[in-house]
Amino acid sequence: MASKKITIYLVAGARPNFMKIAPLMKAMRANKRIKPVLIHTGQHYDRNMSKTFFDELEIPKPDYNLGIGSGTHAQQTANVMLKFEKLVMRKRPDYVLVVGDVNSTVACSLVASKLLIPVIHVEAGLRSFNREMPEELNRIVTDGLSDLLFVTEKSGRDNLIKEGTARDKIHFVGNVMIDTLLNNLTKARDSKILETLQLQPREYGVVTIHRPSNVDDDKNLKKYVELLLRMQKKLPLVFPVHPRTNQRIQKSGLAKKVKSAQNLILVEPLGYLDFLKLMSASRLVLTDSGGIQEETTILKVPCLTMREDTERPVTITEGTNILVGTNPNNIYKNFNKVLRSKKAGKRPRFWDGHAAERIVKTILIDAKKRS
Ligand code: UD1
Repeated sequence: MASKKITIYLVAGARPNFMKIAPLMKAMRANKRIKPVLIHTGQHYDRNMSKTFFDELEIPKPDYNLGIGSGTHAQQTANVMLKFEKLVMRKRPDYVLVVGDVNSTVACSLVASKLLIPVIHVEAGLRSFNREMPEELNRIVTDGLSDLLFVTEKSGRDNLIKEGTARDKIHFVGNVMIDTLLNNLTKARDSKILETLQLQPREYGVVTIHRPSNVDDDKNLKKYVELLLRMQKKLPLVFPVHPRTNQRIQKSGLAKKVKSAQNLILVEPLGYLDFLKLMSASRLVLTDSGGIQEETTILKVPCLTMREDTERPVTITEGTNILVGTNPNNIYKNFNKVLRSKKAGKRPRFWDGHAAERIVKTILIDAKKRS
């Protein structure tokens, strides 16, 4: 008699989730013992923040879209919970798999664990030790509720063990976001983004800023804008503007100033392949993102992270990332230093394109134990 398939609900809500879900969906669809079901919470909904990624990364159309949209943290989290609970109570999947650290991640893990459905967290254990970051709170809660915790780097395992997580729940499998990067490098080479923006390889930098702590406060935002105006005199900078940052720039009255800078090239948020090409051919990347620290490490492009802390320390100890803080003079000093000499880096362990396969293997073993 054929045994029943293992039904896994995979949750994706916001842009950085989509690159993590893509290789997992692929590996699960290829396994005849698993039935993956894709849930899009709708946290990100603009075409260029969501649909583009599904098309480019060949992620199947979500089985369910909860259509949550934006709101305060409580609204967003609660709305996901209400809709996801209804679905899960009706269907009772064997597992709920969440990725990363966005509001959709914590909302769905809370629903599933209260309904006694095992939670799988991919990208567990990362800690910035900064509780002012909403993502840090999401990580701590999600990890506390999870039954299988997949970590991308050694620090993840160490953090979880220190917090008292049972060792047999933790699995060091590598990085699914890097699976996606390696799977798409060849395709990204065909992107025409450099021609479109009239750029030459290594003759420009890339900037991304969207953290609430950096853009929600007018004073801080002004500080970054002035810094970028200073930097673009030395190196043209391409700045794909996140919706949150765009709203803040418009509201704060800085839009005119930003647009007046000749070498600060503002563009809408880019698709995956264009952004990958843009990063890979750049001289350096300036960012406050989490995932970009990891992608630049694999691309061997210097990354200056404009934050006081990182939850991804391996990108500093082994990769090309430099934590430059939030003081403009310090950022500028490091920017000049990197223009003079590039930091070499090596590939962290298991960031080899096979993390999703390891995850599937481990889930199958776990499912057997539970049956
Ligand atoms: C979220 C994640 C963050 C991740 C980031 C990547 C949380 C707590 N934060 O932050 O970890 O790095 O996504 O982008 O989950 N908006 C649009 N269109 C969209 C989505 C958002 O216009 O498709 C606007 C909305 O007005 C919204 C604002 O952007 O208020 C911020 O979106 P939100 O989902 O609240 O958080 P992000 O800043 O994107």
